[in-house]
Formats: sequence, structure tokens, C-alpha cells
Amino acid sequence: MSRYSRAFFELQWRFAERVAAISSSPLEVALLHYTNFYIRFGLGRQFDANHSVWRIYIDGLTDAADPVEWTWRFFLTREEMPPPALVARFGCFSYAIASDTAIRLHFSNIDSPAYSPLSRKRIDARRAELRALFEHVMHANPSTQRVLGTSWLYNLPAYRRLFPLAYIETARELTTRFQNMPLWGQFLDRYGNVRPDMQTYFLQRIAQHRDMAAIAQCFPFRALATDVSIAVFDGFYDAS
Ligand SMILES: CC(C)(COP(=O)(O)OP(=O)(O)OC[C@H]1O[C@@H](n2cnc3c(N)ncnc32)[C@H](O)[C@@H]1OP(=O)(O)O)[C@@H](O)C(=O)NCCC(=O)NCCS
Repeated sequence: MSRYSRAFFELQWRFAERVAAISSSPLEVALLHYTNFYIRFGLGRQFDANHSVWRIYIDGLTDAADPVEWTWRFFLTREEMPPPALVARFGCFSYAIASDTAIRLHFSNIDSPAYSPLSRKRIDARRAELRALFEHVMHANPSTQRVLGTSWLYNLPAYRRLFPLAYIETARELTTRFQNMPLWGQFLDRYGNVRPDMQTYFLQRIAQHRDMAAIAQCFPFRALATDVSIAVFDGFYDAS
């Protein structure tokens, strides 16, 4: 079973349609720059409009009776690609090399659907994963000086409580993450379905606004970037 529902693609499709209408650009351009489709199709992060697989997708839209259905079916034929420079996974967390001296944290729900990965019951499990992750960084990448993150999740108290306060306090808003899960992930529940309340709110708001700056503000949460010295994590998970 896919981790992402058809509704997740439909929501993004509708956003791209709105962007195309407002900015008077071709829908094809909006689909490339304002949805997470390219990454979800496992094409990397070059966002090359001439990528052969992307062309198959775009050309298929011409004949598709239902373009959202075509998009969803196309996604189901594709293999997921891990984030760039991924080093190791520890349950829901993983990290990648961001530069010679920095790592980037990633979150992806692989917990049992019986409970939220962010629930109180799973705090100990999440902290144990982070402890293992930082131990791995210390041994495998000892030159690491900084820890980076980018996600809408840093808005949620249920996520923030997993990290040192000094890390969370560095969170800064990013405005250009329309192609990435750090923005779109906010619409998902743990089953890969779209949250109905957030969908309604979002679609109503994008229908009301007529310029690109305003439409970017229609997302309930912003993507936030974090960046702190790795020293802040020293001993933080030892009590886990
Ligand atoms: C994170 C994720 C698993 C949460 O889904 P879920 O477990 O079904 O969420 P729940 O409704 O059970 O909520 C769990 C907690 O998170 C909060 N929460 C989760 N998603 C929320 C949302 N979109 N808006 C508001 N609160 C949210 C809930 O309030 C709850 O907190 P609480 O226990 O303090 O009340 C889901 O959103 C997901 O998988 N998203 C994609 C992951 C992602 O974005 N990855 C890329 C990261 S860059």
C-alpha cells in the first residue's frame, strides 16, 4: 500500500491549477514548481522540465480523461528515492550530509498505525531513535559541527518536545518550499490521507486570493528551518 493517498495528489493538483491561473503560466510549469510531484515520482531534485520520465507524465496528461487519476496512477508505478546524501535511518528519523561540517535531520513516519508517532506514548521511542542517530553522527561523522532541519513539523508542540529548546528556538520561516514535503507534509495524517479540515481551509483560501504572495500564505503552517551547534545535543537524550 502506498504511503500517500490519491487525495494528497489531488490537493496539490488543485493548488497548481490555481497558481497557473493567477500567474498566467502553463499548468505544466506550475506542476513542476508548485507541487511535490517531481520528487514523489523519484526524479531527484533537479526539477528538469525535460527529464524523460517527467515528459512521459506531462505528455500523458493530454490524453488523460481524469488528470488527477493519471497523476496518482503514474506515482504508483514509480520508486521512491531517499533524500540526497542520506547516511542512516533510525526508525522515523534519518540524517543526511548537508556539508563538510553539517548534517540535516529528516522525519518520516514508519511507526505502527495503531498510534501517532508523535503521541506521548511514543516519545520514548522517538528519543531513543534520536539518541542512536546522534551516536552514529559522533562516530561516523566526527567533523560535524551543526545540525540543520527543514519542516512544517517544527510548528507542532508534539514534535518540538523531542528536541532541545535551543535547537527549536532557531526555527525561521522559509517561503519557497512548494516542491517539498517540509511544506506539503502538513496535510497528511499517519495513514497518508489528507486531513479534511485542513484541506477545506486551504482550498477556500486559495480560491479567495489573486496574487502569488497572498497564495503562499494560504498554507496553515509554514516550513521552518533550524540550524544549531551540535553541542546543544550533547547528553540531551541520555535519559531516554
Ligand atoms: C506527522 C504525522 C505522522 C502526524 O499524523 P498523525 O499521527 O495522524 O497525527 P495526529 O492527528 O494523531 O496528531 C499527533 C499530534 O500531532 C499534532 N498534529 C499532527 N498533525 C497536525 C496538523 N496537521 N495540524 C495540527 N496538529 C497536528 C496533533 O495535534 C497531535 O498533537 P497532540 O498529541 O499534542 O495533540 C503526519 O502528519 C505525517 O506523516 N506527515 C508527513 C510527514 C512529513 O511531513 N514528513 C516530512 C517532514 S520534513
